[in-house]
Amino acid sequence: MKKFFIQTFGCQMNVYDSQRIINMLESYGMQQTDKIQDADIIILNTCAVREKATNKVFSALGRIKQSKKPTALFGIIGCVAREAGETAFKRIPDLNFVLGPQSYHKLPLILSNPDAKLLNIDLGGLEKFDELPQVEKSPALAYIPIQEGCNHCCTYCIVPYTRGRELSRPFKDVVKDVIQAANTGAVEICFLGQNVNGYKYIDSDGKVYKLSDLIKEAAKQDNIKRIRFTSSYPTEMTDDLINMFKTEPKLLPFLNMPIQSGSMSVLKRMNRPYDLNQYIDIVDKLKAARPDIQISSDFIVGFPGETEDDFEDTMKIAEKIKYINSYSFKYSPRPHTAAALMEDQIPEAMKKQRLAKLDSYLNELQRQFNESCIGKTLECLCEGLDKTGKHLIYRTPYMQQCVVNKPAEITWPILARIDITEANKASLRGTFSK
Ligand code: 5AD
Ligand code: SF4
Repeated sequence: MKKFFIQTFGCQMNVYDSQRIINMLESYGMQQTDKIQDADIIILNTCAVREKATNKVFSALGRIKQSKKPTALFGIIGCVAREAGETAFKRIPDLNFVLGPQSYHKLPLILSNPDAKLLNIDLGGLEKFDELPQVEKSPALAYIPIQEGCNHCCTYCIVPYTRGRELSRPFKDVVKDVIQAANTGAVEICFLGQNVNGYKYIDSDGKVYKLSDLIKEAAKQDNIKRIRFTSSYPTEMTDDLINMFKTEPKLLPFLNMPIQSGSMSVLKRMNRPYDLNQYIDIVDKLKAARPDIQISSDFIVGFPGETEDDFEDTMKIAEKIKYINSYSFKYSPRPHTAAALMEDQIPEAMKKQRLAKLDSYLNELQRQFNESCIGKTLECLCEGLDKTGKHLIYRTPYMQQCVVNKPAEITWPILARIDITEANKASLRGTFSK
């Protein structure tokens, strides 16, 4: 039996894409392996969002070349494939395939013609969603992509280049996926998209469907108990969507809505044309709709021209919103982006210093929020056993990890009410509520 090895870098969309590839290769009778030496085909599904991520891919390819079977095929798919294109073959001449994020369903071509060099980095639209086999049994948490690409053109971001213009999947196709997931084991649905709340599909009768319509459809499924979506652009949080947090109890009280910077002048140069008051208004409206809602964000520090005052404005907005579950990154100049050509690039040491300061504050906010959960009872979704096999890992509605002692019984609830008893900055501990 032929074996394949696949490693995934980057975002949830890549994790989803890899799962579809796994299904496809298994449908060809191949078996997944975690040992490169055993594999007949080796696939890296890659992320190009920061330079470090891209470099990691090429160093991994160098290592794979040394350890793989001489006959094994190897290559890259995803965003680095799209970014590097033909130059990937120049850097690693033995490489067999380079397939962009919208053409990885062409992978079987290399299986039928292993002597060829397969290059396809076209932005081919959404056909991959139709061409790949569906999962027969859904995991309890089903990720469902609803749109791909992005029209916002933030000046730092390579995604509009790697994933193309924004495309929304047909409403009925997404609903079909939701029903299929609900009927085969899903308890939670997470709608995915680079700009998920920009979802907009117009059918042949001119009827417009938005993310709020998808949430309503998912909520109709009795088996689905929790719904969320990621990642949202602030000014696309329209009132119909905000209102969902009031009317739809299955929608979790947690929203990832990256602000990136708290400085108006940096936001302007990032080409994120909203002002802070607008962002704060949206958060206030969300809180009015769902008082227990919590917000998470991504931040970029050291964007070209960022002054100490600009950075302090980012610290201030973090303090004002009291973000939880957030990520911060050093700005990384990327090809095909406007910011890479800007003057006033910030020295690495300063970026590092600012990142450390913001990171430690975000951790402190997380610790405070985690501690505020002690004594509460939260409904949590089971993710499985931890490495020791002695504990179960649950996920709270706020995406915190909650560790529970494994009960003596052989089975345990997928969805459980858990009394939170302890907290630290990284996770919670709890017991099943009686
Ligand atoms: N440099 C650093 N971080 C970046 N991100 C996107 N592009 C860059 C870049 N050039 C971050 C943003 C985004 C997250 C997925 O990655 O914060 O929200
Ligand atoms: Fe990375 Fe963005 Fe591509 Fe996801 S879409 S893999 S975050 S570059």
